[in-house]
Amino acid sequence: MTLQRKLALFLLAASLAPVVGVGFPILGWAQRELGRRASAEHLARARSGAASISADLAQVDATLSTVAESWRPDRLDEADRRGLLLVLSRQLPAVEASAIVDGEGTTRALLSTRGGAAEEGFLAAVRAAREGTGRGLSLHAYEEAGGGVRLAAVRAIPAADGGRWLVAVRLGTSVVQRRLDAAVPEDGAAYLASGTRLLVTSVRAEPLTEAARGELAERIDRKRAGALLGRSSLAAWAPLAAAPGWSVVVGVPAEVAYAPIVGLRHAALTACALVALGVLALSALLARRISARVARIDAAVRALGEGEVEVRLPEEGRDEIAAVSRTFNAMAEELGSARARLERWNDDLQREVDARTRELREAQAQLLEAQKLAAIGQLGAGAAHEINNPLTGILGNAQLLLEAMPRSNPDRESVEKIEALARRCRDITQKLIRFSQQRAEPDFRELDANRVVAEALALVDGHLRAGGIPLDVSLAEPSPRVKGDPGHLAQVVLNLLSNARTACAGRPGAGIRIATRRAGGDVEIVVSDGGKGIAPEHLPRIFEPFFTTKDQWSNVGLGLSVSYRIVAEHGGRIDVESRAGEGSTFTVRLPAASAAATAA
Ligand SMILES: Nc1ncnc2c1ncn2[C@@H]1O[C@H](COP(=O)(O)OP(=O)(O)O)[C@@H](O)[C@H]1O
Ligand SMILES: [Mg+2]
Repeated sequence: MTLQRKLALFLLAASLAPVVGVGFPILGWAQRELGRRASAEHLARARSGAASISADLAQVDATLSTVAESWRPDRLDEADRRGLLLVLSRQLPAVEASAIVDGEGTTRALLSTRGGAAEEGFLAAVRAAREGTGRGLSLHAYEEAGGGVRLAAVRAIPAADGGRWLVAVRLGTSVVQRRLDAAVPEDGAAYLASGTRLLVTSVRAEPLTEAARGELAERIDRKRAGALLGRSSLAAWAPLAAAPGWSVVVGVPAEVAYAPIVGLRHAALTACALVALGVLALSALLARRISARVARIDAAVRALGEGEVEVRLPEEGRDEIAAVSRTFNAMAEELGSARARLERWNDDLQREVDARTRELREAQAQLLEAQKLAAIGQLGAGAAHEINNPLTGILGNAQLLLEAMPRSNPDRESVEKIEALARRCRDITQKLIRFSQQRAEPDFRELDANRVVAEALALVDGHLRAGGIPLDVSLAEPSPRVKGDPGHLAQVVLNLLSNARTACAGRPGAGIRIATRRAGGDVEIVVSDGGKGIAPEHLPRIFEPFFTTKDQWSNVGLGLSVSYRIVAEHGGRIDVESRAGEGSTFTVRLPAASAAATAA
């Protein structure tokens, strides 16, 4: 069920339940109360109507009995009987016709304004009443030939022959109708009823409907007063004391009696319908607002799920949805910062990986370089071995020749040159062999880097001074410790220094700087010069054995390759930076002694 439906149902129930649960029962109660009061009123009216008609009839009865009993009509002649009737009609103005009938039903006198033939119905009714008439007055209704109900009041008078004569009067309905009119309730009707037949109707009234009359006919009690709260009418009846079997009935149609309640009920129903409509509209409006906000939250949650951590919800209002929005925003905020942290961490990791990869590549390149150098060295050493034997022969023979040759011999100079060149060749081949041979195991021990530098400096110091090359020494204090072979490392520094010296030669002002320093877990020995620098095309080749740009005989291009190998044996590396015409910087990086110890 959607939120809108639930809300509508709830609001409908909340707004209509009091009306349905309380309002309608109250209306029902009010209707019953109204009916009760109306029938009480009707009963009173019926009783007063009955009383006044009874009084009229009592008067008729009294007059009839006095006149008839004192005059004894059976003993009078016809003219006197008519006179008697005349007296009667004078005393009872409501009487329209009167008659005297003997025990056999023969009319003995008749007084009528309409003539004898017109009173056939009246006389028939009086004759018919002979059996049923007791000692008192009896009232009879009959229908006239021309239509319309008439009333006949009949009284029996004992005759001299022991039989009974009847004195009867026809009563005009107008008297009864006046009494009924006085009893008639507002918007209702009043009747004079014989038994269950409603015979005389009040003038001043709407007659009851057929259904209402049927309902009444079933209920009227001839002897006792009563009331009816019927479907079609609200009515009451009261018997006439003066005329047994007759009663006055008073009633109003139910719709008239209940009109105020019906009106109220209609008003309540209309109000209910209006309230229901209003509630539906209100709930639709409310639900639309709520579901729009819920939809916004839904969309935001989805967006967050898809990684849009910057999505935020408006926090307006102080209701639960606003609280959910605030919580959501806090969560998105937290998620955003967590993601930023993760990204930073990822970046750091990436940088770390890049650095490690670069180191690995460099190590690989160094390994390749070392392998290349080793291959070239072995090749050179092989060649040197082959050359060495013939060279020894050449040198020996040249020396033998020189020993035997007098100083004046003009060829002596040539033989001396042969000997010198052979000596140089031997030097070169021996250097080569030394380079390629597995030299004596390096003697590793802990030592001061500054000591190594000082030993190498001692060997080149004189040369530098002689060449007028300025030297700047900057050693870290206390001296960094490295683990290594002091002789081999001094050799490396010496090689670098002598290359720097050569680079500075002939360049006035160009100097050399040597320094030791700590760099992380390593120790660096830096030799830099302001000499001629290395041409870019030479830079990739300077560590190759026999690569040289020098044409002096003492330089055979092995200095840097030997140094490279020594440093590699110590677990370190040599880096070079150089610009042609500006100078070069060689950095030897060795693991510090403590680090080396822990690494070992
Ligand atoms: N400090 C430097 N300044 C300029 N060039 C240098 C320097 N050190 C080395 N070189 C270049 O590297 C080459 C190889 O050096 P090395 O192996 O010591 O052999 P050699 O000194 O016998 O030439 C040198 O010939 C020179 O061209
Ligand atoms: Mg050299």
